[in-house]
Amino acid sequence: MPTPTLEQVLKERVAGLVGGDLELVEEEIRRELGSPVELIQEMGGYVAGAGGKRLRPILLLLAARLAGYRGARGVRLACVVEMLHTATLIHDDVVDQAPLRRGRPSANAQWGDDASVLVGDHLYSKSFAMLVRDNDRAVMETLARSTVSMTEAEVFQLQLKRSGSTSEADYVRIITQKTASFISACCRIGGLLGELAPARLDALTRYGLDIGVAFQISDDSLDFVANQDRLGKAIGADLREGKRTLPLIAMLARAAPAAAARVRELLAHGVLGAAAVEEIRRYVVEHEGVEYALERAHAWARAAKADLDAFPPSEERDTLALIADFVVDRDR
Ligand code: IPE
Ligand code: IPE
Ligand code: MG
Ligand code: MG
Repeated sequence: MPTPTLEQVLKERVAGLVGGDLELVEEEIRRELGSPVELIQEMGGYVAGAGGKRLRPILLLLAARLAGYRGARGVRLACVVEMLHTATLIHDDVVDQAPLRRGRPSANAQWGDDASVLVGDHLYSKSFAMLVRDNDRAVMETLARSTVSMTEAEVFQLQLKRSGSTSEADYVRIITQKTASFISACCRIGGLLGELAPARLDALTRYGLDIGVAFQISDDSLDFVANQDRLGKAIGADLREGKRTLPLIAMLARAAPAAAARVRELLAHGVLGAAAVEEIRRYVVEHEGVEYALERAHAWARAAKADLDAFPPSEERDTLALIADFVVDRDR
C-alpha cells in the first residue's frame, strides 16, 4: 500500500477527533443560510457548499478539545467563524477581481460585485448575530479584535500596492493582521471554551498566530507554483494585480540591480498582462523566491509546534502539530 500523504493522515485524525462536530457545523451553516430572499440562499449555498478546507472550524474544535471542553458551544462558534471567513472570501474576491474560488467561478464572476458585497455583508452580520446569541464577552472581544485587525490590514495592503513598495517587514505585518489574527482567534476561542489558565491560553493563541503566518506565506507561494485545478483558484493572481508577496520581495532583494529594475518597471503598470506575469514569475523562480518564502514558512510552523509544548502530550496536541506541518506543505 502506498504511504498515505500528510493530508490523508490529517483528515483521518481530524475525523476521528471532531468529525461528528464538523458534520453538525455543516448542518448549522446550511440552516443559517436559510433566508426568505432567494438570492441569499442561492449565493450563500453556492459558496459555502463549494467546500473549502474548513481549517478554522477544525482549529476551533480541536483547540476546545485540547482545552478539555466537551460541550455544544464549539459547533455554534465553529459555524460563526466559518461564515465569517466565507464573507471575507466573497469580499476578497471582489477586491482582487478573482474569477475562481473553491474550484468554481467566484460569486462576483457569477452574480456581480454588487450582489457579492451585499451578500458578504449579510453573512458577516449573520455570524455576528450568532456570536451575540452565544453571549460570551471574552469570545466576542476576541473575534471583534481580529476583524478590526483584518480589515485594517486589507486597507494597508491596498495602500502599499498603490505606493508601489512593500518590505518584508510590511508583508509580515499585513499577513499577521489579515490572516493570522483570525486563525489565532479561532484557536483562542477554543481555549476560552475550555477555560484555560492564562499561560496556556496565550500559548494556544500564539500557536494560531504562528500557523496563520505560515499558512499565508504558503498561500502566497502557491500563487506562483500551484496546480490551478487542485488549488481551486486562479494562480498568478497576486502578480497580475500587482500584490507584492514574499517570493517577489525575496527576488527583488536578491536580484542584480538590472533585473530588479526590470521587475519594478513591469510592476509599475498596475494590472499586468499575461506576458509580464510570466516574465516576473521566471525571475522569481530563477532567484528561488519561493524556496526562500517556504523556508520562512517552515520556521513559523516550527515555532507553532514549540508553542504546543505548553500542553501535555495528547492526540489533540499531535493533530495540531500535524496541522502546523500541513499549512506549509499543502497544495490547495
Ligand atoms: C483562503 O483561505 C484565504 C487565505 C487566508 C489564504 P483558505 O485557504 O482557508 O480557504 P478555504 O476555506 O479552504 O476555501
Ligand atoms: C487572504 O488573502 C484574504 C483574507 C485574509 C480575507 P488572499 O487574497 O491571498 O487570499 P486568496 O488567495 O484570494 O484566497
Ligand atoms: Mg484574494
Ligand atoms: Mg492568495
